Amino acid sequence: MKAFTLDLERAAHLVAERGSRLGRPLVVLTETASTNDLARRAAKEGAPHGATWVADQQTSGRGRHGRTWVSPPGEGLLFSVLLRLSCAPVQLPPLALLCGLAVRDAVAHVAPCVPIALKWPNDVMAGGRKLAGVLVEAITVGSRIDAVVVGIGINVHSRSFPGDLAAIATSVALVASGEPPPDRATLLADVLASIDRELHVVLARGLGLLHERLRAADLLRGQRVRSDSGDQGLAVGIDDQGRLLVRRDDGVVAGWVAGEVNLVRPSRIGS
Ligand code: BTN
Repeated sequence: MKAFTLDLERAAHLVAERGSRLGRPLVVLTETASTNDLARRAAKEGAPHGATWVADQQTSGRGRHGRTWVSPPGEGLLFSVLLRLSCAPVQLPPLALLCGLAVRDAVAHVAPCVPIALKWPNDVMAGGRKLAGVLVEAITVGSRIDAVVVGIGINVHSRSFPGDLAAIATSVALVASGEPPPDRATLLADVLASIDRELHVVLARGLGLLHERLRAADLLRGQRVRSDSGDQGLAVGIDDQGRLLVRRDDGVVAGWVAGEVNLVRPSRIGS
């Protein structure tokens, strides 16, 4: 069991090498229920900005919209970082996009021959399948956010997926076959350093400075999309506040704030 975390134990060294303020301290666990739970609990007990928990396996990993995040031992990179930020709820969507972009870029670095995209709001996709996801949870005091837990799950070594996931999930190993085997410690250190670099500018000024990176990574731009409430239109970009800009059929451009978005496949004419 212990052997699974050996690669992750290098991560503290790599975090220090990159000079990142995130990932310190770094707690490496063989198994836990959910690293987001650990980070939330530690936040209440006074853990510092940047503290990070990474687990080889989770028994109750969760995703957005109450979904379960499944990852057998040794296969995924599963971690949560505590950000001690005093911010307003409207600053969370840009923060979540920054984290998604950091994951997208770190994966693209180890899988340079495959397009890796960010699907608004924060899924990382390759070949139309999901490779990673970000779960941002706020810890509030009254109406103000006192801290944020960013939980990230990346499918790294998985070669197959159970049940319904088989048709919709992929992994770094599957998309980067032919490249050197992906390394969880490097991915972790790269993602943390990337978030750390841009965190304060995004909180202060929104996504403006990341606009080009975001535009290049945006899977939905130029695609017809449908929201979970049934609204439809052409996705034309992401604004500085992290809203998905959608041109409706009446020509009005609306900013979608949250929710699940799906691509609308063109219907076939004839048989
Ligand atoms: C999503 O795509 O729905 C977000 C998935 C987030 C999963 C990660 S794994 C580490 C951290 N701990 C959890 O319980 N969830 C996040």
